[in-house]
Amino acid sequence: MSLNKKSVDDFNAKGRRVLVRCDFNVPLKNGEITDETRIVAALPTINKLIADGAKVILCSHLGKVKNGPNEGESLAPVAKRLSEKLGKEVTFVADYSVTGDAATKAVAYMKEGDVVLLQNTRFRGEEETKPQKAGEAFAKELADLADDYVCDAFGSAHRAHASVAVVTKFITEKGGTNAVGYLMQKEIDFLGNAVENPVRPFVAILGGAKVADKLNVIDNLLEKADTLIIGGGMAFTFLKAQGKEIGKSLVDNEKIDYCKEMMAKAEKLGKKLLLPVDTGIAAGFPDPIDGPIDVTYVDSNAIPADMEGLDIGPKTQELFADAVKSAKTVVWNGPMGVFENPTLAKGTIAVAKALAETDATTIIGGGDSAAACNQLGFADKMSHISTGGGASLEFLEGKELPGVYAADDK
Ligand code: 3PG
Ligand code: MG
Repeated sequence: MSLNKKSVDDFNAKGRRVLVRCDFNVPLKNGEITDETRIVAALPTINKLIADGAKVILCSHLGKVKNGPNEGESLAPVAKRLSEKLGKEVTFVADYSVTGDAATKAVAYMKEGDVVLLQNTRFRGEEETKPQKAGEAFAKELADLADDYVCDAFGSAHRAHASVAVVTKFITEKGGTNAVGYLMQKEIDFLGNAVENPVRPFVAILGGAKVADKLNVIDNLLEKADTLIIGGGMAFTFLKAQGKEIGKSLVDNEKIDYCKEMMAKAEKLGKKLLLPVDTGIAAGFPDPIDGPIDVTYVDSNAIPADMEGLDIGPKTQELFADAVKSAKTVVWNGPMGVFENPTLAKGTIAVAKALAETDATTIIGGGDSAAACNQLGFADKMSHISTGGGASLEFLEGKELPGVYAADDK
């Protein structure tokens, strides 16, 4: 996969209408943005284009838009927050047709350095159409508004949608440039290149609830990494595959054979595969999730039949931290236990702390592990925290992401 893409530094945007696809799919509660990470992450590219004297036309999806356009999934709150962050007015085109007359007029009025935000791209159902025939018409409408295109929507880069991947064809047809933004570039550098071509030793840490969600990630990282560490709920399926009693712990019985295969593969490739040697157990899952819970620690082969494993134990914390200490590159995706509960967050905190203390390049896949780093206060200690959940997982699977692929090669 070619990851050597044209960036915003590789073309002259002065006076050009530049369509920028961002991932402004931020969480909202009662119309208020509860986490602005993705907006903040998009600012460097937007500011660079403003400084260059481009006419900056932003677009993004928000939410799933299952039942057609609606105010609850309008990008209006994003326009407001973005204006505050940029310190300049962002003209929001609230029109549900996204690319209609209102958008065309707003763009026609733009001066150099102006910023326009279009409405939620998923308000046009064609955004997600597969195959992309219908999507092509919408993609062309988007391209008609602009001269060049910049994709900075890493969180959406695994979606072959009109505004993410199809639009580039029409920009190319009119002789424009398709580049990646700074956020995309950073994600490519860390998640793409670091995994494809890591400084070794390369340690990968995987956690989270289900083996089924990470089948291809495990498979790919076993090949790329020197050491693969598995913790969290998914470790119990591996432990069961080793013939251990795991009590009432989370298990995916259909994936036992897969786990056996992966352990055999590790052995054949001479890779270290580390599993929890001890486990924090309780009578059941905490309810509420952050409520008080009585936890004891036992060796991983001594989990009583009526107990449930909910975190890694202290010996495992040390084992995993040791592996991280000697690493030069570490990738981490998925918590080690029920980190939302203070008593069961110890394993996840220990891993976050080990990453914070190592000199290695530390890369956090998005989703829960990013949330854990933020929530536990380790975010600024990591080399890179991905803004993508699904997209970062597909990168770790070694897949070609449509949104990356679509940009022009250098
Ligand atoms: C995300 O938050 O996962 C991205 O913005 C992509 O959104 P989607 O999963 O709804 O396609
Ligand atoms: Mg998603």
